[in-house]
Amino acid sequence: MSYLPKQVRIVEVGPRDGLQNESTIVPTAKKAEFIKLLGAAGFRNIEVASFVHPKWVPQLADAQELIGQLEPVPNVRYSALVPNMKGLERAIESGIRRIAVFTAASETFNKKNINMGIQESIDVFRPVVKRALTEGISVRGYVSSCFVGPYEGAVAKEKVAEVTWSLFELGVDEVSIGGTIGAATPQDVEKTCGLLLQEFRGHKLAMHFHDTYGMAIANVYQALQMGFTIFDSSAGGLGGCPYAPGASGNVATEDLVYLLDRLGIQSGISLQLLRRASHFIAQALGRDLPSRVLKTA
Ligand code: HMG
Ligand code: MG
Repeated sequence: MSYLPKQVRIVEVGPRDGLQNESTIVPTAKKAEFIKLLGAAGFRNIEVASFVHPKWVPQLADAQELIGQLEPVPNVRYSALVPNMKGLERAIESGIRRIAVFTAASETFNKKNINMGIQESIDVFRPVVKRALTEGISVRGYVSSCFVGPYEGAVAKEKVAEVTWSLFELGVDEVSIGGTIGAATPQDVEKTCGLLLQEFRGHKLAMHFHDTYGMAIANVYQALQMGFTIFDSSAGGLGGCPYAPGASGNVATEDLVYLLDRLGIQSGISLQLLRRASHFIAQALGRDLPSRVLKTA
């Protein structure tokens, strides 16, 4: 018999993962308004920016200014990606209270994405996480390319578990498991996440599916049945990684919320207010967004 949880937590990554691949630069004030609308829709976890090199991701170069414009909302946690100590210094200056460090289960992908091998990135993160925690900033971790990598193909589940352990050992409180290029199927999820469930009892694991091959919502359903309760998604299905060829948007938050609503699983998100946020950012970008549910009346 399949198991379904009663409640899930959604981490809305649209303002970061969603926008990082967009070539139309969205003005800072519009990003702030988008994030405000997301907060109004019920999100308690919103990834808003990255403190990466501005030349690598020009869309997010305004991270500090943007965070300065965000209104503090009770119970809403804003977070931002941090790749190294320089990024952490910028994050501390911005006043953000949660960061995320990010590595991969694929050596080549990691080098292309952050110019570091996997072990090198863990070594770089060690003092970053330590200092963040000392400053009272909580830390999430990401492992990208957990199922099928853009360069080396199928990824060994043991490698995913090993890198996930390395992040928990640094002191992160949650690890997000990335289907970066959206090529994984529910069978891949069952295989890799089955091992993760065995190895990480009592640890928080999030699922982060991109939707390149239209598999993301099927993968969410697979993970739900396995008992996972934290999901990353992007309003409207915005998103992609500029350093993973072919990677398109995240699973659309509307599609995820529709599924959860129909399954009777609580997420705390108002689909109607979420639509408002997605229409707003679609207008700012001047294009339609891929979410199927958003296209319905
Ligand atoms: P690098 O060139 O190796 O950096 O880039 P470096 O340490 O050699 O430094 C070179 C210069 O950059 C120096 O300046 C540093 O100060 C500066 P100079 O002395 O030459 O004037 N620098 C910085 N400036 C601002 N902020 C910083 C920073 N760090 C160094 N943080 C680096 C290494 C990691 C910075 C670069 O590769 C980078 O920014 N990569 C980010 C790529 C990225 O954002 N990818 C997308 C996010 S990951 C993703 O989408 C996947 C995810 O969604 C999960 C999934 O889908 O699987 C999370
Ligand atoms: Mg991603």
